Amino acid sequence: MPNEIISITDQRTNQTYNLPIETGTIRAMDLRQVKTGPEDFGLMTYDPAFMNTASCRSGITFIDGERGILEYRGYPIEVLAERCTFLEVAYLLLFGELPNQAELDNWVNEITHHTMVHETTKRFMEGFRHDAHPMALLVSTVAALATVYPEARDVHNPKNRLLQIKRLIGKMPSIAAMSYRHSLGYPYIYPDNDLSYTANFMNMLWRMVEPKYVANDVLARALDILFILHADHEQNCSTNTMRSVGSSHADPYLATAAAAAALSGPLHGGANEEVLRMLDAIGSTENVPAYIKQVKDGHGKLMGVGHRVYKNYDPRAKIIKWAADRVFEVTGRNPKIEIALELERIALEDEYFIKRKLYPNVDFYSGIIYEAMGFNPAMFTVLFAIPRTVGWLAQWQEMITDPEQKIARPRQVYTGQRTREFVPLQKRGLVAATKT
Ligand code: CMC
Repeated sequence: MPNEIISITDQRTNQTYNLPIETGTIRAMDLRQVKTGPEDFGLMTYDPAFMNTASCRSGITFIDGERGILEYRGYPIEVLAERCTFLEVAYLLLFGELPNQAELDNWVNEITHHTMVHETTKRFMEGFRHDAHPMALLVSTVAALATVYPEARDVHNPKNRLLQIKRLIGKMPSIAAMSYRHSLGYPYIYPDNDLSYTANFMNMLWRMVEPKYVANDVLARALDILFILHADHEQNCSTNTMRSVGSSHADPYLATAAAAAALSGPLHGGANEEVLRMLDAIGSTENVPAYIKQVKDGHGKLMGVGHRVYKNYDPRAKIIKWAADRVFEVTGRNPKIEIALELERIALEDEYFIKRKLYPNVDFYSGIIYEAMGFNPAMFTVLFAIPRTVGWLAQWQEMITDPEQKIARPRQVYTGQRTREFVPLQKRGLVAATKT
C-alpha cells in the first residue's frame, strides 16, 4: 500500500478526497470519484499533448531531462555508445540484459538471416514514383510487410512476436537502402550475410559494380554509434503511436508503419532534414546573428534545438558532436559544421534560449554527419527509423505484456453544440464554411 497521500478539497462541495501517490503520480481514474452529485460524470484531467501524463510504466529507457541523463535498461548512453555494437544494444533493449558472447552470436546470426525481403516486396517498391520521399516509401513498404506475414496478427503468441521482431529489425535497413536506391534509379542490392549490420546496410546503399563492397571501418562504426543513440527514447511521439496503434492489437508491421509515419514529421525525426535546410538557408557564419534574431522575433524555429523532456544539453548531441570529428577525418570537414557551431554558441549565450532552456538536441548535428557520409537530407529520417524500430518493438512488447494496459482511448472535453433540431436540406441557409 502506498503511504503517500494527497488530500484534495473540492470547493464546490467542500468534500475532501484522499488520493494515494505512487511513484510520483496519482491515478487519473482516482479523480473520477470527485463529483458534484450523482449525475456528474466525475473529474477528469485535461492534458493536451500529454505534457504531464504518464501513459505507462516502463522499465526500458530512463531520462532525466533536467540533468541531461539518458539510460537504456540502467546503462548510461555514453557507456553503451563507447563499448557496444548496435545489435548488442538492441538485445539489451528488447530482453533487458546485455547478451553474453554466445547469446550475441546467436542474435546477430538470427537478425542477419532476416535481412532479405520477399520478391513481391521488391516489386511493390518498384511501383513507386522515382521522386517519392524515401520516408513515405519506407512507411508504405513496412505496412506492406503485413501482407507478406499475415501470421503476425497473432500478437499474443510470444514466439510469433519474437519472429516478427527479428524480421523487422533485419529488414528495416534493406527497405531503407532500397528506398534510397529507388530515388536514384539504381538497382536494389541484396544483403550480404558476411557483413555486420551497419556494413551490410552501407553495402546495400552504395555498392555499384564492384564484386565486394568494403565499408570504411570508421564510418561503419560512426553509423553504429548513431544507431545506438537513436534506438529508444521512452514515450516520444512515434513510440506513443506504436503503443497506441499496438494497443488495438493491430499487427506489428502496421503499428511500426504508423510509428514511422509519426517520426517523419519535422517536429520529431524529420527535424534533422530541416536542420540541413536551415543551415543551407543561413549560408555562412556571418548570417547567424540575423537568423537568430528572426527566430526570436517569432519567424520560424531553430531546428534541432529544444526538447519536450531535455531542459539541458541532450546527451546524444554531445556524443554525435564527438563522432562528427571522427567522421570528418575520413570524409573531410562538412563546412556546415561551422555554421552549426556558431548557431549553438550564440544560442547558448542568448537570453531567449537560456530562459526557455533550449539546447541542441539529437538532430542538431546528426544531419551534418549523415551529409558528410554521402546521404542526401531526404534520407536522414529513414536513418533515424532503422534503429528506432528496436525501441518501438521493445515498447510494443512491454505494452502487450502489461496487464494494466488496455486499448488506448483518451477522453475529450466536448466544446461543440448539443442536440440540435435537424433542418432539411432545402431549408438550410449558407453553411459558415462556405461563406468565406
Ligand atoms: N526555436 C525557437 N524557439 C523555440 C524552439 C526552437 N527550436 N523550441 C521551442 N521554442 C520556444 C517556443 O516558441 C516556446 O516559446 P514561448 O514560451 O515564448 O511560447 C518555448 O520555447 C517552449 O516551446 P514549446 O513549443 O512549448 O515546447 P514543446 O515541448 O511543445 O516542443 C519541440 C518541443 C522539440 C517540438 C520544440 O522545441 C521544437 O519544435 N524544436 C524544433 C524541432 C526539433 O528540433 N525537433 C526534434 C526534437 S528531438 C528528436 C525527436 O524527438 O524526434
